[in-house]
Amino acid sequence: MEERSLLHHQSDLNRREFLNLTWLASLGFLVVNFGGVTLLFSMPRFREGEFGGRFVLGPAKEVLPDPGGDPIPDSIGKYWLARLETGLIVALYKVCTHLGCIYNWRRSQQKFICPCHGSQFQLDGTYIQGPAPRSADRFLIRLLDEQGTEISTTDTLGNPLSVPDTNLRIVVDTGQLIRGQEQNIPYPIS
Ligand code: FES
Repeated sequence: MEERSLLHHQSDLNRREFLNLTWLASLGFLVVNFGGVTLLFSMPRFREGEFGGRFVLGPAKEVLPDPGGDPIPDSIGKYWLARLETGLIVALYKVCTHLGCIYNWRRSQQKFICPCHGSQFQLDGTYIQGPAPRSADRFLIRLLDEQGTEISTTDTLGNPLSVPDTNLRIVVDTGQLIRGQEQNIPYPIS
């Protein structure tokens, strides 16, 4: 009789242990999974130097064109880096706001012209004429000091950015597209 009760007690214990183990295993699985997903989402989706990611350029004095000079294209980042006569800078998305052709800088006319339907844009991307519904789209630019601290950044309207110190490093963030303003709205916008 005592032996049977002992056996019963043992099988109860085993079942409880088994349930505890299963519960712990499920909990562990959830923690690992959740941690993995969180880590995945906290990682940037695009690597530095590929379209959709950040393009870390050198100090402004080494990578910017002269004020009012020819803009500098980046074929991987799909942007034009332009410096206006005022010294302010913009990074323009190379894709035309009409139907998506790649527009070019026409040095002789000092403007961008799209080869598909002739839309034209100023050096800062402002719409001039043609079927494009708005000015060129822009990418966000960040200015970093030597320690990598962000000093300033393009505002949410995409206004040209001032470079207070030409030792600051330029970062073009092609993951942050700022839609161009409607045809008749000139920059800067307040
Ligand atoms: Fe550029 Fe039509 S795609 S003008």
